[in-house]
Order: sequence, then structure tokens, then C-alpha cells
Amino acid sequence: MLQRICMSKPHEDDDDDYESIEGRDFFRQMHGRRTNLLNPTYLLPADDDEIQRSNLMHRLIRFIFSGRIYVGPTKEVLQFGPYRQALDLGTGRGEWAVELCEEFSWVFTTGVDIVPIQFLEVPERCRFEIWDINMRDMPYADGCFDMIHARAVLTGIRDYPHFIRQIGRILRPGGLVLLIEPGLMQYANNKPEDAYMFGSGPRGWFTLWETYRSCLSMLGVDVTVPQRLKELLEGTGLFEDIQDFKATIPEPSEESGTNLGAFIDKGVLTVGQLQWMAYDLLLPALKPMFMSLGMLEARADRIIKDAQTDLYYGNSDFKLASHMHIVHARRNETDWY
Ligand SMILES: C[S@@+](CC[C@H](N)C(=O)[O-])C[C@H]1O[C@@H](n2cnc3c(N)ncnc32)[C@H](O)[C@@H]1O
Repeated sequence: MLQRICMSKPHEDDDDDYESIEGRDFFRQMHGRRTNLLNPTYLLPADDDEIQRSNLMHRLIRFIFSGRIYVGPTKEVLQFGPYRQALDLGTGRGEWAVELCEEFSWVFTTGVDIVPIQFLEVPERCRFEIWDINMRDMPYADGCFDMIHARAVLTGIRDYPHFIRQIGRILRPGGLVLLIEPGLMQYANNKPEDAYMFGSGPRGWFTLWETYRSCLSMLGVDVTVPQRLKELLEGTGLFEDIQDFKATIPEPSEESGTNLGAFIDKGVLTVGQLQWMAYDLLLPALKPMFMSLGMLEARADRIIKDAQTDLYYGNSDFKLASHMHIVHARRNETDWY
């Protein structure tokens, strides 16, 4: 079993993070970027640019949830104290875990990740642990959490159905799970990639996403999970009141037009612009993954550059968009076997 390390102790320099704790290393260099050492499936970087990308996603989700970091019956589930426990799986910097604590003064949160990149000054009720959430048995007692949140972690999970069953085990009856995953299929002019004949559509953009999905499949990640979250929760028999919805980014009606990053003059960031900035950081972040799976550097650079060309100077004939898949559900009374 992997060692669990609690890192809730405050630190003076909030920008610092730990390269090693108690002599144990958590990072390695991979093709010019810092990545994690614990989980060979997760090949996205764990460095400052990646932290910035997660922060953009966090802000984007707040847009989608009308300023909040949750949807569904969160307040109802957390309301009756004296204290409540929430878990954030794949917490990243820990924004969600910290902000939930700040909003609900009686809630204790635990954030889990494979790298120690979390805020070092956090509320006393917030703690972080470092371990791999692919673990067969998560190190918690049955039914001990009131709420479990997992956002944008699919690319590090080898067996998502098992992951959901573990969530069902450690959630109390009536407890709430909130899963959020960005779709891995792209859209142009409201049509999915596969509706375009070979050679048509924004080719650079689509080729990058095809390559990304193939790499994830090679790493054992099921790229169809985002659009199947509801079905996967239903399949366990452990959940009820399962609600799912899909946010299109940007929304077709958004004032900036329907294209990603179509900047408007008002100085107001829209969902599309946040997504554009996040994609701007994602494209170079994929290079270590492409190369570590055997792609030559020149080919990786070409794929990324062609996608950047579509993103930066995209032909206005193609309005790019993607989906954010969101599902929440309550744990039912079924026993865990
Ligand atoms: C894209 S970031 C999202 C961070 C955060 N959930 C958010 O939405 O802002 C994915 C995070 O999941 C973590 N992660 C990926 N696979 C993991 C695993 N198997 N166990 C624990 N953490 C994992 C990564 O280290 C990274 O910090």
C-alpha cells in the first residue's frame, strides 16, 4: 500500500511546493516538463503551467455553475452538522477543497493527489494526502464521507467503473457524489469530429485530439467515460437521483460568438475565452505524453503547431466547441459487498 502523507501544516511561503517529503521523491523530468512519479498512466505535467491550467478550469466551472463550485443538493447534504466530511479526488492545487471549507464552516475536506502541489496555507479543516486513487481499496472506512468530488481526473484513472464503486463504498447513504469530466471529442460548427470526412474540418485541431485520445487509450484510459458518467453510476446499483448534464463551451448563444476565444472588447472574460486559454496551455503539455509513447519530437511539434494554428488563427468558417460532462448522484441504502 502506498504511504499516506498529510500535508496540512501551514508554511510561510505559499508559492513553494515539495520536491520530496521525508526523502521520498514525487517528480521526474519528462521531455522538458516536470511530471509525477507515482502514476505511470497520468502523463500530463505537474508544473506551474499545469497549475495555471487547472486554475482556469476552476474559474470556468464557476461560470458554468453560476459562481459556485458545486451543483445539485450539496447544501442539503452538508447542512446537518455538527461536522461534515468531504473528499476531493485528484485535487491538484486544492482550490475546490479549500473553497468548500471556506463556504461551509462546519465541513472538513480532504484533498488527494499524486503530487504535492497543494496550497501550503489552508484552513485547519482542510488537509491533503498524497496517494494514487487507482488503489484497489481506498484507505477509508465504508460510508465515512458526506460528499465526494472528482473533477478532470479521468486521464489518470485506469479503471473508472472500479473508481466509482470505491466512491460508492466510502460515501454514506444519502451522501453526494459530483463528477465532472471535460469531453475528449471536439466539435466544429456544432458537429462532432467524426461527422467530418477525412481531410475536411479544422484538420490540425482534430488531428491533435485524435492523437491525444489514441495515447490515452494506449495508456489504458477509457476515453468514452465523460459521456457515459451517468450510465457508469447506474451500473454500480449503488446510487440514486442520478442527474447528468452537459455544458457546451462556449454556449452557442454566447455574446462572443460561438468560437473559442473570440475576444470581445469589454474586458470581460467569457467561458469561451477561459477555455481558449486553458487549451493554449494544454497543447504544449501533451508533448511529453506523445513522445513518451514513441512519437518523434518533430512529429509531436508538428501536430501541436497545426492545432495551435487552428486555435490561434482558426478559419472563422469553423466555430470550435467542446463539452463539459457533469453528473451528481446520491448514495442509496444498498449494502456494500
Ligand atoms: C487536470 S488536474 C485537475 C485538478 C483539480 N481536480 C481541478 O479540477 O482543478 C488533474 C489532477 O489529478 C491528479 N491525478 C491524476 N491521476 C491521479 C491519480 N491516479 N491519483 C491521484 N491524483 C491523480 C493530477 O496529479 C492532477 O493534479
